[in-house]
Amino acid sequence: MTRYGEFPGARPRRLRTTPAMRRLVAETRLHPADLILPAFVREGISRPVPVPSMPGVVQHTRDTLRAAAVEAVEAGVGALMLYGVPETKDAVGSSGTDPDGILQVAIRDVVKEVGDDLVIMSDLCLDEYTDHGHCGVLDAQGRVDNDATLERYAEMARVQADAGAHVLGASGMMDGQVGVVRRALDGVGRQDVSILAYTVKYASAFYGPFREAVGSSLKGDRKTYQQDPANLRESMRELALDLAEGADMVMVKPGLPYLDVLAKVAAETDVPVAAYQVSGEYAMVEAAAANGWIDRDRTIAETLTSIRRAGAHLILTYWATEVARGL
Ligand code: PBG
Repeated sequence: MTRYGEFPGARPRRLRTTPAMRRLVAETRLHPADLILPAFVREGISRPVPVPSMPGVVQHTRDTLRAAAVEAVEAGVGALMLYGVPETKDAVGSSGTDPDGILQVAIRDVVKEVGDDLVIMSDLCLDEYTDHGHCGVLDAQGRVDNDATLERYAEMARVQADAGAHVLGASGMMDGQVGVVRRALDGVGRQDVSILAYTVKYASAFYGPFREAVGSSLKGDRKTYQQDPANLRESMRELALDLAEGADMVMVKPGLPYLDVLAKVAAETDVPVAAYQVSGEYAMVEAAAANGWIDRDRTIAETLTSIRRAGAHLILTYWATEVARGL
């Protein structure tokens, strides 16, 4: 290849002279259809409840969730990822498998409202529903029991598919979860339902605001199942397992602090790769912008562009509708 710069008059700045020129040569573009809006729906409320650590984000009522879904469609957003916040919790997270549980009724609502225009994704994890706040059920010693949890996930997969979800977001970080969910779906004839595997999910401090958003009961941490932020080679093992188990799409999470991981995952797989710009990333930008310390809109665009540049085809972001509108 003949390389630029092998002659004396080389001046990269020529391609930065005007907005039109910069737009022409931009290597990375955001498109509304690549954005996925995560949304919370809470049981038993009559008005949306703001999440204090995530200014602009609310726990929706069933009605306001429907309205948010319509707004997302109008803005051209690609998908919704739904999280349920139940009124009651127990040790096994019963409301996560109750066909009348809040997530399942919300999936039905939203699929009925916009299901032809928007991909409806649902979170497949027990942490919103367990009274101890872990992503799985516990054994007699209080440890997260991997294989007993898988049985609960299989049941969750069936009820969420039954409610009409198009994609199940397997986010619990149990070993074997993708394979179990795939077999559970196929076993009831739901070969049509896809799995978005949370393949690389770190035990991150950046999830703090999310735990407020879902009213998490967790004490302690998730370090026995989520990954150590120090590790990258381990992520490649998770990727190999999820692909072998039948993941249709894979995810890296969080986003901005893990762009190296994202770039490597994107380079090593041929399935769509998603990145999750998580609650703490959102909160940091909103907080600094509210103080006048950074330019909010430019910062949002820059973070999303960087995640895309690193290799994400899809991005989950709490700004999805707003950003899609502006594109
Ligand atoms: C677990 C789950 C979490 C997030 C998405 N799914 C939290 C956790 O692992 O504690 C975090 C998302 C965010 O911070 O925006 N079901």
